[in-house]
Amino acid sequence: MKLFDVYAINDITITRAEGSWVWNERGERYLDLYGGHAVISIGHTHPHWVERIESQLRQIAFYSNSVRIPIQQALADKLAKVSGREAYQLFLVNSGAEANENALKLASFHTGRKKIVSFSKAFHGRTSLAVAATDNTSIVAPVNETEHIVFLPFNDEDALNNWFREQGTETAAVIIEAIQGVGGITVATNSFLQQIRSLCTQYGAVFIADEVQCGYGRTGRFFATDHAGVAADVYTMAKGMGNGFPVGGILIAPHIAPKPGLLGTTFGGNHLACAAALAVLEVMEQEQLMEAAESTGAWLLKQLRALPQLRAVRGKGLMIGFDLPEELKTLRSHLLQEERVFTGEAKPNVVRLLPALNLGMDAANDFISRLKSAITALELQQPTKTANVNQ
Ligand SMILES: Cc1ncc(COP(=O)(O)O)c(C=O)c1O
Repeated sequence: MKLFDVYAINDITITRAEGSWVWNERGERYLDLYGGHAVISIGHTHPHWVERIESQLRQIAFYSNSVRIPIQQALADKLAKVSGREAYQLFLVNSGAEANENALKLASFHTGRKKIVSFSKAFHGRTSLAVAATDNTSIVAPVNETEHIVFLPFNDEDALNNWFREQGTETAAVIIEAIQGVGGITVATNSFLQQIRSLCTQYGAVFIADEVQCGYGRTGRFFATDHAGVAADVYTMAKGMGNGFPVGGILIAPHIAPKPGLLGTTFGGNHLACAAALAVLEVMEQEQLMEAAESTGAWLLKQLRALPQLRAVRGKGLMIGFDLPEELKTLRSHLLQEERVFTGEAKPNVVRLLPALNLGMDAANDFISRLKSAITALELQQPTKTANVNQ
Protein backbone atom coordinates (compact mmCIF):
# COMPACT_ATOMS: atom_id res chain seq x y z
CA MET A 1 0.00 0.00 0.00
CA LYS A 2 1.22 3.50 -0.83
CA LEU A 3 1.44 6.25 1.74
CA PHE A 4 -0.91 9.13 0.91
CA ASP A 5 1.54 11.48 -0.73
CA VAL A 6 0.98 14.88 0.92
CA TYR A 7 4.36 15.80 2.40
CA ALA A 8 7.37 17.40 0.71
CA ILE A 9 10.00 15.27 2.43
CA ASN A 10 13.78 15.47 2.66
CA ASP A 11 15.52 12.29 1.53
CA ILE A 12 16.84 11.55 5.02
CA THR A 13 15.99 8.73 7.43
CA ILE A 14 16.59 9.56 11.07
CA THR A 15 17.22 6.48 13.18
CA ARG A 16 18.49 7.94 16.44
CA ALA A 17 18.18 11.22 18.33
CA GLU A 18 19.56 12.75 21.51
CA GLY A 19 19.25 16.32 22.78
CA SER A 20 19.61 18.64 19.78
CA TRP A 21 21.28 16.01 17.60
CA VAL A 22 19.86 13.38 15.24
CA TRP A 23 21.62 10.61 13.29
CA ASN A 24 20.79 9.00 9.96
CA GLU A 25 21.04 5.27 9.25
CA ARG A 26 24.70 5.69 8.23
CA GLY A 27 25.53 7.23 11.61
CA GLU A 28 25.94 10.75 10.22
CA ARG A 29 25.05 13.41 12.76
CA TYR A 30 22.79 16.44 12.16
CA LEU A 31 22.22 19.49 14.34
CA ASP A 32 18.49 20.05 14.90
CA LEU A 33 17.51 23.73 14.84
CA TYR A 34 13.99 22.76 13.73
CA GLY A 35 12.99 20.56 16.67
CA GLY A 36 10.76 18.42 14.42
CA HIS A 37 8.59 21.52 13.84
CA ALA A 38 8.84 23.14 17.28
CA VAL A 39 7.84 19.88 18.97
CA ILE A 40 11.08 18.90 20.71
CA SER A 41 11.08 21.14 23.77
CA ILE A 42 13.32 19.36 26.31
CA GLY A 43 15.56 17.63 23.77
CA HIS A 44 15.18 14.33 21.90
CA THR A 45 14.94 11.22 24.10
CA HIS A 46 15.52 13.15 27.32
CA PRO A 47 16.27 10.43 29.95
CA HIS A 48 13.68 11.68 32.45
CA TRP A 49 10.99 11.74 29.74
CA VAL A 50 11.92 8.24 28.54
CA GLU A 51 11.91 6.93 32.11
CA ARG A 52 8.50 8.42 32.95
CA ILE A 53 6.87 7.07 29.79
CA GLU A 54 8.46 3.64 30.25
CA SER A 55 7.35 3.25 33.84
CA GLN A 56 3.83 4.50 33.02
CA LEU A 57 3.66 2.01 30.15
CA ARG A 58 4.33 -0.83 32.58
CA GLN A 59 1.44 0.29 34.83
CA ILE A 60 -1.33 1.39 32.47
CA ALA A 61 -1.14 3.13 29.09
CA PHE A 62 -4.79 3.98 28.48
CA TYR A 63 -8.20 3.98 29.95
CA SER A 64 -11.04 6.19 28.77
CA ASN A 65 -12.27 9.37 30.48
CA SER A 66 -15.06 7.33 32.08
CA VAL A 67 -12.88 6.67 35.16
CA ARG A 68 -10.71 8.78 37.46
CA ILE A 69 -7.26 9.42 35.98
CA PRO A 70 -5.20 10.96 38.80
CA ILE A 71 -2.23 11.70 36.54
CA GLN A 72 -4.45 14.24 34.72
CA GLN A 73 -4.81 16.16 37.98
CA ALA A 74 -1.07 15.88 38.65
CA LEU A 75 -0.48 17.38 35.20
CA ALA A 76 -3.02 20.15 35.81
CA ASP A 77 -1.35 21.02 39.13
CA LYS A 78 2.13 21.16 37.61
CA LEU A 79 0.89 23.16 34.63
CA ALA A 80 -0.84 25.65 36.94
CA LYS A 81 2.45 26.19 38.75
CA VAL A 82 4.77 26.41 35.75
CA SER A 83 2.41 28.59 33.68
CA GLY A 84 1.29 30.71 36.65
CA ARG A 85 -2.38 30.06 35.75
CA GLU A 86 -3.58 28.54 39.04
CA ALA A 87 -7.22 29.54 38.57
CA TYR A 88 -7.58 28.13 35.03
CA GLN A 89 -9.11 24.77 34.07
CA LEU A 90 -7.44 22.19 31.84
CA PHE A 91 -9.05 20.18 29.02
CA LEU A 92 -6.74 17.66 27.37
CA VAL A 93 -6.70 16.73 23.70
CA ASN A 94 -4.21 15.22 21.23
CA SER A 95 -3.08 17.92 18.80
CA GLY A 96 -2.92 21.63 18.06
CA ALA A 97 -5.82 21.66 15.62
CA GLU A 98 -7.97 19.81 18.12
CA ALA A 99 -7.05 22.32 20.82
CA ASN A 100 -8.11 25.23 18.60
CA GLU A 101 -11.24 23.44 17.39
CA ASN A 102 -12.36 22.95 20.99
CA ALA A 103 -11.38 26.50 22.00
CA LEU A 104 -13.43 28.03 19.18
CA LYS A 105 -16.39 25.76 19.85
CA LEU A 106 -16.21 26.55 23.57
CA ALA A 107 -16.16 30.30 22.84
CA SER A 108 -19.30 29.91 20.76
CA PHE A 109 -21.03 27.81 23.44
CA HIS A 110 -20.04 30.34 26.11
CA THR A 111 -21.15 33.48 24.27
CA GLY A 112 -23.99 32.01 22.21
CA ARG A 113 -22.44 33.86 19.24
CA LYS A 114 -21.01 32.80 15.86
CA LYS A 115 -18.52 35.38 14.56
CA ILE A 116 -14.81 34.70 14.94
CA VAL A 117 -12.00 37.16 14.28
CA SER A 118 -8.76 35.75 12.92
CA PHE A 119 -5.83 37.52 11.23
CA SER A 120 -3.97 37.63 7.95
CA LYS A 121 -1.47 34.77 7.57
CA ALA A 122 -2.83 32.95 10.64
CA PHE A 123 -2.39 29.18 10.89
CA HIS A 124 -4.60 27.37 13.41
CA GLY A 125 -4.70 23.78 12.09
CA ARG A 126 -6.60 21.58 9.67
CA THR A 127 -9.82 20.50 11.36
CA SER A 128 -13.01 22.20 10.20
CA LEU A 129 -13.22 25.38 12.30
CA ALA A 130 -9.46 25.64 12.86
CA VAL A 131 -8.82 25.49 9.12
CA ALA A 132 -11.62 27.96 8.44
CA ALA A 133 -9.78 30.36 10.78
CA THR A 134 -6.53 29.69 8.87
CA ASP A 135 -5.64 32.25 6.22
CA ASN A 136 -4.74 29.82 3.44
CA THR A 137 -7.53 29.05 0.98
CA SER A 138 -5.57 26.16 -0.57
CA ILE A 139 -6.11 24.00 2.53
CA VAL A 140 -9.76 24.99 3.13
CA ALA A 141 -12.12 22.41 1.56
CA PRO A 142 -15.45 23.67 0.22
CA VAL A 143 -17.24 22.08 3.19
CA ASN A 144 -15.05 24.08 5.61
CA GLU A 145 -15.94 27.45 4.10
CA THR A 146 -17.99 29.62 6.45
CA GLU A 147 -18.98 33.24 6.62
CA HIS A 148 -18.60 33.18 10.40
CA ILE A 149 -14.86 33.88 10.24
CA VAL A 150 -13.41 37.28 9.38
CA PHE A 151 -9.72 37.90 8.67
CA LEU A 152 -8.42 41.28 9.78
CA PRO A 153 -4.93 42.60 9.05
CA PHE A 154 -2.39 41.49 11.68
CA ASN A 155 -1.30 44.24 14.09
CA ASP A 156 -3.86 46.71 12.65
CA GLU A 157 -5.48 48.40 15.66
CA ASP A 158 -7.84 50.58 13.60
CA ALA A 159 -9.26 47.61 11.71
CA LEU A 160 -9.86 45.76 14.99
CA ASN A 161 -11.53 48.79 16.57
CA ASN A 162 -13.79 49.24 13.57
CA TRP A 163 -14.76 45.58 13.59
CA PHE A 164 -15.73 45.65 17.27
CA ARG A 165 -17.62 48.92 16.88
CA GLU A 166 -19.76 47.33 14.16
CA GLN A 167 -19.94 43.64 15.10
CA GLY A 168 -18.54 43.40 18.64
CA THR A 169 -21.78 42.17 20.16
CA GLU A 170 -21.92 39.29 17.65
CA THR A 171 -18.30 38.27 18.12
CA ALA A 172 -17.67 35.00 19.94
CA ALA A 173 -13.88 35.03 19.85
CA VAL A 174 -10.65 36.58 18.65
CA ILE A 175 -7.96 33.98 17.96
CA ILE A 176 -4.34 35.00 17.53
CA GLU A 177 -0.79 33.63 17.59
CA ALA A 178 1.30 36.17 19.54
CA ILE A 179 4.10 35.15 17.19
CA GLN A 180 2.88 33.71 13.91
CA GLY A 181 4.81 30.56 13.05
CA VAL A 182 3.66 29.30 9.64
CA GLY A 183 2.97 32.96 8.76
CA GLY A 184 6.72 33.67 8.98
CA ILE A 185 7.67 34.57 12.60
CA THR A 186 5.59 37.73 12.69
CA VAL A 187 5.48 39.19 16.19
CA ALA A 188 2.25 40.81 17.45
CA THR A 189 2.88 44.15 19.12
CA ASN A 190 2.19 44.39 22.83
CA SER A 191 -0.32 47.15 22.22
CA PHE A 192 -2.23 45.00 19.68
CA LEU A 193 -2.52 42.15 22.20
CA GLN A 194 -3.57 44.60 24.90
CA GLN A 195 -6.20 46.04 22.58
CA ILE A 196 -7.57 42.53 21.87
CA ARG A 197 -7.79 41.99 25.63
CA SER A 198 -9.66 45.20 26.30
CA LEU A 199 -12.09 44.87 23.35
CA CYS A 200 -12.87 41.24 24.24
CA THR A 201 -13.57 42.30 27.83
CA GLN A 202 -15.70 45.26 26.74
CA TYR A 203 -17.82 43.22 24.29
CA GLY A 204 -17.89 39.90 26.15
CA ALA A 205 -15.93 38.03 23.47
CA VAL A 206 -13.43 35.24 24.25
CA PHE A 207 -9.72 35.99 23.73
CA ILE A 208 -8.07 32.79 22.47
CA ALA A 209 -4.28 32.76 22.46
CA ASP A 210 -3.06 30.06 20.06
CA GLU A 211 0.15 29.11 21.86
CA VAL A 212 0.54 25.82 19.99
CA GLN A 213 3.83 26.91 18.41
CA CYS A 214 4.90 30.10 20.24
CA GLY A 215 3.94 28.91 23.74
CA TYR A 216 5.18 26.42 26.31
CA GLY A 217 8.30 28.36 27.26
CA ARG A 218 9.67 28.78 23.73
CA THR A 219 9.92 32.58 23.91
CA GLY A 220 11.39 32.67 27.41
CA ARG A 221 8.00 33.15 29.08
CA PHE A 222 5.48 30.33 29.45
CA PHE A 223 3.07 31.95 27.00
CA ALA A 224 4.17 34.34 24.26
CA THR A 225 1.24 36.60 25.18
CA ASP A 226 2.81 36.97 28.66
CA HIS A 227 5.33 39.42 27.17
CA ALA A 228 2.45 41.86 26.61
CA GLY A 229 1.25 41.50 30.21
CA VAL A 230 -2.20 40.26 29.15
CA ALA A 231 -4.17 37.20 30.15
CA ALA A 232 -6.18 35.36 27.50
CA ASP A 233 -9.48 33.64 28.32
CA VAL A 234 -8.36 30.45 26.60
CA TYR A 235 -4.83 29.26 25.78
CA THR A 236 -4.31 26.46 23.28
CA MET A 237 -1.21 24.25 23.53
CA ALA A 238 0.31 21.23 21.80
CA LYS A 239 3.71 20.79 20.05
CA GLY A 240 6.27 21.23 22.90
CA MET A 241 3.81 19.94 25.50
CA GLY A 242 4.76 16.27 25.02
CA ASN A 243 8.27 16.62 23.49
CA GLY A 244 7.06 14.42 20.65
CA PHE A 245 4.41 12.40 22.43
CA PRO A 246 1.07 13.53 20.90
CA VAL A 247 -0.72 15.64 23.50
CA GLY A 248 -2.50 18.98 23.42
CA GLY A 249 -4.61 20.98 25.79
CA ILE A 250 -6.58 24.11 26.42
CA LEU A 251 -6.40 26.28 29.53
CA ILE A 252 -9.77 27.83 30.27
CA ALA A 253 -10.35 30.90 32.46
CA PRO A 254 -12.50 30.36 35.56
CA HIS A 255 -15.47 32.41 34.28
CA ILE A 256 -16.07 29.86 31.50
CA ALA A 257 -18.00 27.09 33.19
CA PRO A 258 -17.99 23.43 32.17
CA LYS A 259 -21.05 21.24 31.96
CA PRO A 260 -21.17 17.48 31.44
CA GLY A 261 -20.80 16.54 27.79
CA LEU A 262 -19.90 20.04 26.59
CA LEU A 263 -16.52 18.80 25.27
CA GLY A 264 -15.14 15.29 25.05
CA THR A 265 -12.54 12.99 23.51
CA THR A 266 -11.58 9.32 23.58
CA PHE A 267 -7.79 9.61 23.65
CA GLY A 268 -7.31 13.08 25.17
CA GLY A 269 -5.70 12.95 28.62
CA ASN A 270 -4.67 9.29 28.43
CA HIS A 271 -2.20 8.03 31.02
CA LEU A 272 0.79 7.83 28.70
CA ALA A 273 0.28 11.32 27.24
CA CYS A 274 -0.02 12.77 30.75
CA ALA A 275 3.18 11.00 31.83
CA ALA A 276 5.02 12.50 28.83
CA ALA A 277 3.58 15.98 29.48
CA LEU A 278 4.43 15.81 33.19
CA ALA A 279 8.00 14.81 32.38
CA VAL A 280 8.31 17.85 30.09
CA LEU A 281 7.17 20.26 32.81
CA GLU A 282 9.40 18.63 35.43
CA VAL A 283 12.43 19.01 33.17
CA MET A 284 11.46 22.58 32.26
CA GLU A 285 11.40 23.40 35.97
CA GLN A 286 14.51 21.45 36.99
CA GLU A 287 16.66 22.66 34.10
CA GLN A 288 15.18 26.19 34.08
CA LEU A 289 14.46 25.91 30.39
CA MET A 290 12.48 29.13 30.03
CA GLU A 291 15.49 31.08 31.24
CA ALA A 292 17.71 29.00 28.95
CA ALA A 293 15.45 29.74 25.96
CA GLU A 294 15.61 33.43 26.73
CA SER A 295 19.40 33.64 27.08
CA THR A 296 20.35 31.29 24.22
CA GLY A 297 17.75 33.02 22.04
CA ALA A 298 19.08 36.49 22.85
CA TRP A 299 22.62 35.35 21.99
CA LEU A 300 21.46 33.79 18.69
CA LEU A 301 19.50 36.91 17.72
CA LYS A 302 22.59 39.03 18.31
CA GLN A 303 24.82 36.75 16.22
CA LEU A 304 22.28 36.58 13.40
CA ARG A 305 21.78 40.36 13.37
CA ALA A 306 25.55 40.75 12.93
CA LEU A 307 25.38 38.84 9.62
CA PRO A 308 24.73 41.48 6.95
CA GLN A 309 23.48 38.89 4.42
CA LEU A 310 20.40 38.02 6.55
CA ARG A 311 17.38 40.33 6.44
CA ALA A 312 14.88 41.26 9.14
CA VAL A 313 16.15 38.97 11.91
CA ARG A 314 13.27 38.74 14.39
CA GLY A 315 11.61 36.69 17.12
CA LYS A 316 11.78 36.04 20.84
CA GLY A 317 13.65 33.39 22.79
CA LEU A 318 14.05 30.29 20.64
CA MET A 319 11.43 31.26 18.07
CA ILE A 320 13.53 33.08 15.51
CA GLY A 321 13.07 33.98 11.86
CA PHE A 322 14.96 35.85 9.17
CA ASP A 323 14.44 36.58 5.48
CA LEU A 324 16.79 35.32 2.79
CA PRO A 325 17.84 37.52 -0.12
CA GLU A 326 17.52 36.00 -3.61
CA GLU A 327 21.22 35.03 -3.78
CA LEU A 328 20.88 32.91 -0.61
CA LYS A 329 17.59 31.25 -1.52
CA THR A 330 19.16 27.77 -1.37
CA LEU A 331 20.60 28.35 2.11
CA ARG A 332 18.29 25.89 3.89
CA SER A 333 19.00 23.00 1.55
CA HIS A 334 22.72 23.82 1.63
CA LEU A 335 22.63 23.84 5.43
CA LEU A 336 20.93 20.45 5.45
CA GLN A 337 22.98 18.72 2.76
CA GLU A 338 26.43 20.21 3.26
CA GLU A 339 26.46 21.39 6.88
CA ARG A 340 24.02 18.82 8.30
CA VAL A 341 21.75 21.30 10.03
CA PHE A 342 17.95 21.07 10.11
CA THR A 343 16.07 24.38 10.00
CA GLY A 344 12.42 25.27 9.37
CA GLU A 345 10.95 27.49 6.68
CA ALA A 346 8.01 29.75 5.99
CA LYS A 347 7.07 30.62 2.44
CA PRO A 348 8.42 32.34 0.44
CA ASN A 349 11.87 33.12 1.90
CA VAL A 350 11.85 32.87 5.70
CA VAL A 351 14.11 30.58 7.71
CA ARG A 352 12.54 29.53 11.00
CA LEU A 353 14.60 28.36 13.97
CA LEU A 354 12.64 26.32 16.51
CA PRO A 355 15.18 24.25 18.44
CA ALA A 356 14.82 22.48 21.78
CA LEU A 357 14.79 24.92 24.71
CA ASN A 358 17.97 23.27 26.04
CA LEU A 359 19.87 23.76 22.78
CA GLY A 360 22.73 25.16 24.89
CA MET A 361 25.58 27.47 24.00
CA ASP A 362 27.87 24.83 22.44
CA ALA A 363 25.26 23.79 19.91
CA ALA A 364 24.22 27.42 19.34
CA ASN A 365 27.86 28.31 18.59
CA ASP A 366 28.18 25.30 16.36
CA PHE A 367 25.08 26.40 14.43
CA ILE A 368 26.40 29.93 13.86
CA SER A 369 29.72 28.63 12.50
CA ARG A 370 27.94 26.16 10.16
CA LEU A 371 25.63 28.98 9.03
CA LYS A 372 28.59 31.25 8.30
CA SER A 373 30.34 28.60 6.26
CA ALA A 374 27.11 27.91 4.32
CA ILE A 375 26.75 31.62 3.53
CA THR A 376 30.39 31.85 2.42
CA ALA A 377 30.04 28.78 0.19
CA LEU A 378 26.92 30.18 -1.48
CA GLU A 379 28.54 33.58 -1.97
CA LEU A 380 31.51 31.92 -3.66
CA GLN A 381 29.12 30.23 -6.10
CA GLN A 382 27.70 33.62 -7.20
CA PRO A 383 28.99 35.14 -10.45
CA THR A 384 31.53 37.77 -9.33
CA LYS A 385 30.03 41.23 -9.17
CA THR A 386 32.74 43.32 -10.90
CA ALA A 387 32.51 47.06 -10.86
CA ASN A 388 32.20 48.63 -14.30
CA VAL A 389 35.39 50.71 -14.41
CA ASN A 390 34.47 52.37 -17.69
CA GLN A 391 31.58 54.32 -16.25
C1 LIG B 1 0.06 28.08 15.69
C2 LIG B 1 -0.41 26.71 15.32
N1 LIG B 1 -1.65 26.34 15.67
C3 LIG B 1 -2.11 25.11 15.39
C4 LIG B 1 -1.33 24.18 14.72
C5 LIG B 1 -1.88 22.82 14.42
O1 LIG B 1 -1.28 21.86 15.21
P1 LIG B 1 -1.37 20.30 14.83
O2 LIG B 1 -0.56 20.09 13.59
O3 LIG B 1 -0.83 19.60 16.04
O4 LIG B 1 -2.81 20.00 14.61
C6 LIG B 1 -0.03 24.53 14.33
C7 LIG B 1 0.83 23.57 13.62
O5 LIG B 1 1.80 23.90 12.98
C8 LIG B 1 0.44 25.83 14.64
O6 LIG B 1 1.67 26.22 14.28
